[in-house]
Parts: sequence; structure tokens; C-alpha cells
Amino acid sequence: MQHVSFPDGTSAPSLGLGTGAWANRPASAAPRWPPCALALEIGYRVIDTAEMYGEGGAEEVVGQALAEAMRAGTVSRDEVFVVSKVYPHNASRAGVRAACERSRRRLRLDRIDLYLLHWRGVHPLAETVAGFEALMEAGEIARWGVSNFDVDDMEELLGVRGGRACAANPVYYSLGERGPGYALLPWLQRHGMPLMAYCPIDQGCWPARQGSPRWRSGTGPRRRSWHWPGRWRSPA
Ligand SMILES: NC(=O)c1ccc[n+]([C@@H]2O[C@H](COP(=O)([O-])OP(=O)(O)OC[C@H]3O[C@@H](n4cnc5c(N)ncnc54)[C@H](OP(=O)(O)O)[C@@H]3O)[C@@H](O)[C@H]2O)c1
Repeated sequence: MQHVSFPDGTSAPSLGLGTGAWANRPASAAPRWPPCALALEIGYRVIDTAEMYGEGGAEEVVGQALAEAMRAGTVSRDEVFVVSKVYPHNASRAGVRAACERSRRRLRLDRIDLYLLHWRGVHPLAETVAGFEALMEAGEIARWGVSNFDVDDMEELLGVRGGRACAANPVYYSLGERGPGYALLPWLQRHGMPLMAYCPIDQGCWPARQGSPRWRSGTGPRRRSWHWPGRWRSPA
């Protein structure tokens, strides 16, 4: 398994488990935590979740699976790398702290390994970064980052006090969506910040994505994320 390096010198496996889709299913539709438990059993060590996924439901599922796996000795805390995200409307200095506490409680963890601003919102970046710094000082997160930021957003972030400590930027970058490869990826590489690609295989809609049933039915990724020239925004 290849590893990706973060600016602080630590690293994590480059392949992770997303929890957005299955956590949004109604609890009655399928067993909710066994898929996460199975993923840990077969070797996944990076788990990507967010307070938004199932309005906390995904974090609860991950928390339960992790607790079981640690109890059974399948994994130790240091072996897993948990990513979660704060809603933009919660990303004020005080809001970040409260949201992180709720997320940690649902995840049953003292510390989140990478805590991200899910996408840009109304709160000034300086406030959000100050909130992240306070969480790092308290040991409640190990590092912080942003998500769905384009080059102009990243430039603005670097202008904020403490902004250079940003550890990662997940964006929609896939077989079908190549946009981030042109300017954002080289920019992040120049600044030593890893780009995390979400939906890397367009959720199965590639190569026949234009004609695929999921594409036509509107459940494909194009309906879940929006792309304006030079800017990405995503609800998931
Ligand atoms: N930071 C953000 O703003 C943001 C935004 C969006 C997503 N994300 C993260 O990225 C995750 C979404 O990524 P993803 O894993 O769903 O995307 P993906 O890697 O592009 O798609 C994987 C899914 O494609 C489907 N699929 C269809 N044909 C397949 C095939 N031949 N082989 C393998 N899979 C096939 C499967 O869905 P089925 O299992 O349903 O068959 C599979 O779960 C979310 O859960 C979330 O964690 C983050």
C-alpha cells in the first residue's frame, strides 16, 4: 500500500474508506456498521467521514465499528487514521470547537486525526483556522485541512495567520473530472500539501458514464457536486 505524506512529516495509507453514501441510507435498509467493521478487518486504515453524513449517523457507525475492532484487537488506535469534517455554518471559532466535540463523542475518540472545513461558507477563514489551532493545542485534533478549495481559496488561506499549516485538501478528482489536475494539483504539490481525491472512479459511472443508468437517473456524482469554472463546491 502506498502512503501519502503530510506537511508535519507523518503519513497515512493513500486509499481510504468513504462513509457518505451508505451512512445516508435509512437504518432499516441495511445493517449500518458491519460494512465498516468488514473494511477494518480486510485492512482499511483510513476512514473518511463528516458531521454532515447522515447528520452524525455516519460518525456513530464509524465509532461503533472502531470500538468493536479495537476491543477485538483487529486494530489499535494508532493504526487507524480518522478524517472528519465540520459543516461550514459551524465553522466559527467557537462553533468549530463545539462541532468537534460532538463528532469526537459520536466517534468515541479523544482525537480526530484530520479535521477539515467541508467547504467554504460564511465564516471568515481566519476564525476557522483559529478554531482549528485551539483544537490542536488541546490535543482534540492531530492536524487540520480544508476541502473543495480551489487555487484562489488556497491563496487566500495562505494569507491567513496559521493558514500554511493546512494538511490536506480533498476535492472531486476522478477518471471523469480532471479539472483539479491542471492548476490545483501542481499548486498543492508546490506547497507540500496532499490532494485527496474523492469519488475517484465516479462511483462506477465511468467509462460509459454519459449513458449509464445511474447517470441518467441523476444519482451519479454530477448531481451530487457542482462544478463552476475554476471553483468546486460539494454538498457531500
Ligand atoms: N470532501 C468532500 O466534500 C466529499 C464529497 C464527496 C465524497 N466524499 C467522500 O468520498 C466518498 C465517495 O467516494 P466513493 O468511494 O463513493 O466514490 P468512488 O470510489 O468513485 O465510487 C465507489 C463506488 O462506486 C460504485 N461502483 C460501481 N461500479 C463499480 C466497480 N466496477 N467497482 C467498484 N465500485 C463500483 C460502488 O457503489 P455501490 O457500493 O453502491 O455499488 C462503490 O462503492 C464519500 O463516501 C465521502 O467519504 C467527500
